[in-house]
Amino acid sequence: MREVMTKTMARNIFYGGSLFFILIFVGLTIHSHIYITTTSTASMPLTESVARGKHVWERYSCINCHTLHGEGAYYAPEVGNVMTRWGVIDEPEDAFTTLKGWMEAQPTGVEGRRQMPNFNLSEEQIRDLANFLIWADKTDTQNWPPNDAG
Ligand code: HEC
Repeated sequence: MREVMTKTMARNIFYGGSLFFILIFVGLTIHSHIYITTTSTASMPLTESVARGKHVWERYSCINCHTLHGEGAYYAPEVGNVMTRWGVIDEPEDAFTTLKGWMEAQPTGVEGRRQMPNFNLSEEQIRDLANFLIWADKTDTQNWPPNDAG
């Protein structure tokens, strides 16, 4: 066997290796796409209202205090499963009224409790947020978080 690697061998290893991993990458990308569109979020359609709710979520930087499916800050509760905790996941109207009540009651001013600001959101924004949180809650997260508190 040769002791020295020729330029041709090095080039073949480079191109062959690159192609191999590019194919794996493309395959995994397709798999993720199929998984996301048919399995993980299929039980709740991505409606206009859900999309608007996501914008409200971003515009008011809720993630600066909260986590959503574990992503975000650890100051305030996880909200990826809040609709389940509130028992309103299958009742969009109840989800709306409960969230509205919550948002309007902030800040509670209760001593010793962390405070959430009042964002003075419109009913429309709160409805969209409720739909977004239901949508997020219905995402198949493979049993994460492991407990109700998130
Ligand atoms: C400055 C930090 C902060 C921001 C920003 C914030 N929150 Fe909160 N949020 C809190 C805190 C603290 C609590 C818990 C308050 C309590 O239990 O008294 C809370 C609680 C909640 C709850 C109830 C969770 C539960 O488990 O009962 C919901 C729902 C919620 N927030 C939604 C939002 C939404 C939607 C936004 C963005 C529009 C937002 N929050 C932005 C601090 C924040």
